[in-house]
Amino acid sequence: MTDNKLFIKTLRGEKTDRVPFWFMRQAGRYLPEYMKLRKEAGSFLDLCYNSDFATEVTLQPIRRFNMDAAILFSDILVIPHALGQDLAFKQGEGPVLTPVDNLEKLEALSTSKLHDHLSPVYKTVSNLSKALPDHVALIGFAGAPWTVATYMVNGKGSKDQAETRLMAYQDRETFSKLIDLLVSSTSEYLIEQVNNGAEALQIFDSWSGTLPADEFIKWCVEPVQKIVENIRTVHPDVPIIGFPKGAGAKIKNFIKKTKVNAVSIDTSTSCTWVRDVVQPLCTVQGNLDPLLLVSGGKPLENAVYNILDHLKDGSHVFNLGHGIIPQTPPENVKMVSDIILNYRR
Ligand code: CP3
Repeated sequence: MTDNKLFIKTLRGEKTDRVPFWFMRQAGRYLPEYMKLRKEAGSFLDLCYNSDFATEVTLQPIRRFNMDAAILFSDILVIPHALGQDLAFKQGEGPVLTPVDNLEKLEALSTSKLHDHLSPVYKTVSNLSKALPDHVALIGFAGAPWTVATYMVNGKGSKDQAETRLMAYQDRETFSKLIDLLVSSTSEYLIEQVNNGAEALQIFDSWSGTLPADEFIKWCVEPVQKIVENIRTVHPDVPIIGFPKGAGAKIKNFIKKTKVNAVSIDTSTSCTWVRDVVQPLCTVQGNLDPLLLVSGGKPLENAVYNILDHLKDGSHVFNLGHGIIPQTPPENVKMVSDIILNYRR
């Protein structure tokens, strides 16, 4: 039962004996069993759209480390792909898309095949809701409109999202239309994930940190607020985690406006500030540095206890401040998992 799972209880703000945990990008290239399936599948996108493979890849870290939640294996860029934008993942380069940087290209996109295109992802969600151990919760996810738009406009990742920030200033009307399209398709996508068995949702806004305060409200807070409202008209009780990465103190207003159940905290934020300022507002998730998970040893152990000790009196889900990186030794993930599983408040 969803309501009895430790992770779900914590997202609802209930006090639990043990701190639940999972790691962003817990499935992926640091695991040899992932690399094996990835090779068999062909490309990364083939892996995402093959429900049997995507199900298996989602389960791999749970078997090794016994996390309290599994996150659907997919990518945030399946939404632009489903809207008709070309997408490929190139070795060593990351995602490559044909830029959508004017009204004409935006109008060439269409929602007509959205659910058709995404049906393998929905199938993965429904497979997982049957395959997961009873105590493990299933997290569905999507990218937030701003972060997805940065890839759509620029056609690839970028250091400071300058191209997209510039478009938002120079062609505000077109950019608003793009964000509106992403709000509606992302809402539908997430609702369909819950229909298929997702028990919680995370909305990744990885690049919100480069926006000035007013732009942050317009392109990060307001779109996520609308998505949360849309989801709750259909699924009023599904817990939603926001991740406005790099938001700093702006996270307070983000929580107040979007009314998310929890926020994921990046590595730049101090645990004392999180405890004193954020935890009274909602459940917090985070925020170990993924690089410590690479380096390991005593510094890693100390950092894990530091986070646990600081946040133990409020609602806390242990996680990283960003995703696991490929060079992470799996034994370090095991060490951290065991510390958390044995830690009592
Ligand atoms: O967390 C999980 O285990 C679930 C799966 C997941 C992936 N991507 C798998 C993936 C999730 C939740 C994401 C989210 C995602 N994707 C984000 C938001 C979170 C973040 O990391 O900031 C973003 C910005 C993307 C876009 C994306 N996908 C990029 C920039 C890249 C290339 C970078 C890289 O690490 O190579 C990807 C590829 C990707 N997504 C991989 C995985 C496992 C690696 C692909 C491979 O196997 O070659």
